[in-house]
Amino acid sequence: MAKQKVVVTRKFAESAHKLLSQEPDIETIQWESDRPCDRAWLLENAKNASGIILTLSDKCDEELVSAAGPSLKVIASVSVGTDHVSRDALKKRSIRLGYTPNCLTDAVADLSIMLTLMAQRRAGEAMQAVLKGDWPNMPWTPFLMTGPQITGSTVGFLGFGRIAQATLKRFISFGIKRALYLTSTPGKPSKADYYGMVKESPIPIESAQGWEQLASESDVIIVGCNLTPDTKHLVGTEFLFKMKKTGVLVNIARGPVVDTAALVKALEEEEIFGAGLDVIENEPNIEKDHPILRQPRCVVLPHVGSATIETRVQMAEESVKNLIAGLKGDVMVNEVEL
Ligand code: DGY
Repeated sequence: MAKQKVVVTRKFAESAHKLLSQEPDIETIQWESDRPCDRAWLLENAKNASGIILTLSDKCDEELVSAAGPSLKVIASVSVGTDHVSRDALKKRSIRLGYTPNCLTDAVADLSIMLTLMAQRRAGEAMQAVLKGDWPNMPWTPFLMTGPQITGSTVGFLGFGRIAQATLKRFISFGIKRALYLTSTPGKPSKADYYGMVKESPIPIESAQGWEQLASESDVIIVGCNLTPDTKHLVGTEFLFKMKKTGVLVNIARGPVVDTAALVKALEEEEIFGAGLDVIENEPNIEKDHPILRQPRCVVLPHVGSATIETRVQMAEESVKNLIAGLKGDVMVNEVEL
């Protein structure tokens, strides 16, 4: 029997490549770098492929799926977000989609806490001052580099899935007083978890009546929702200008949920206290003189939410397992219902 061709768009953890190489019926076409593969290479090599392992920077659209042709059975995305994949293109051809929703929850929740504290405590601004050699001009004064404290605050979640809930669990140990959340699918995707949390929670966890309540009553807003046509620029001028002047915004989801120009304006006009972004519109093509990078109260990281060694190894291994299960018609570790 002819081997099934699988295209792999990155060099991942060794253990993941080993898992794939142990499959006798699979022939792997590998992009030999951990940097994004060329689109032209992908389209060329996808021809007659049965499966593709890709990441959030490889667009999986009509073009790619047609380039692969009718042999294509599985896409395994090394990510929790799947907005880079056209579900319609897969669904109409009965192509299965694997993803890695669980293994990165802790890593991203940790980063959400880190960005919140960095934004509240002005870590970016403080580090810049020290690096620029300004510390000698900044003796200790009572209000030097002061910012709002997390203890006693209300934390609002735009989207309340796994990562948001794991973030809330961490925030509770910081002594926050209340959590608010807004989701288009109440209780989903981990309904049991959510209800368990509410019952056992030492603080009230309440569903916000709308984005206005979430924006105006939260001291910290964590953006953790999926990117869809409905959530694009959900955090825009109106939202930001409704926030408390002491409020901070943290985005660990997808850049386009936040309107960057509106965020720059809100920061410049001191309508909010600060922001922590792991993701931004048009990433990674952010020029060094982009106005968002000139905002002292905005910490910007290059999409490293899931970047712990353990998580990245698990994401790659799980994706290979998803791919193999998909090719064999077995149950995947995690599959998107299309
Ligand atoms: C994802 O997996 O969707 C994250 O954004 C990156 O790991």
